[in-house]
Amino acid sequence: MVKAIVLYNSRSGNTKKVALKIAEGLEVEFRDKRNIPDLIDYDLIVVGSWVIMGRISFGGARYLKKLHRKNIAGKEVALFFTSGAPDDIHPMTEKKVPKKIKEVMFESMEKILTKKQQVTILPERFYCMGAIRILGKEKENIGHPTDEELMQAKAFGEKLKKQLENE
Ligand SMILES: Cc1cc2nc3c(=O)[nH]c(=O)nc-3n(C[C@H](O)[C@H](O)[C@H](O)COP(=O)(O)O)c2cc1C
Repeated sequence: MVKAIVLYNSRSGNTKKVALKIAEGLEVEFRDKRNIPDLIDYDLIVVGSWVIMGRISFGGARYLKKLHRKNIAGKEVALFFTSGAPDDIHPMTEKKVPKKIKEVMFESMEKILTKKQQVTILPERFYCMGAIRILGKEKENIGHPTDEELMQAKAFGEKLKKQLENE
């Protein structure tokens, strides 16, 4: 049987909510960045993080780097993240080759994960907006991820499950 797991890094809970729903759709366990098991027996690793200053959060980058030591070589990886901004043109790319925020984030996650190791990054990815919390209070994007976004996250997990079953 094919084995999968959902891993995430979350400061204020948005990415955790999404991770839980993806795991529900996949019918597998989910773990935060402090509780990552040895991944040797897993076939698919679903990896999530969030955005700070237009980039992957520092904690997120650190945990992705840590995955190198957890036996992810040769595995399939599916990526997801949450961010405060909608998927507009990334302000730091405006003057060069304009790229959407999603592209920039997924590229940076992919770059860390594939450095010096063979990992298959799946084309299936998930992104949604998350509320911006300051001192625990939602200040912007109130209510995100919405119920609809969480349903989409679950559907993303279900889609990955079907794909795994057909492999
Ligand atoms: C200090 C801080 C900086 C942020 N910077 C950005 C940013 O540059 N671009 C963006 O899209 N979202 C930004 N956000 C929003 C977060 O990416 C968003 O709220 C995310 O869903 C948080 O995930 P979490 O609840 O799992 O920690 C920022 C949030 C915080 C707290």
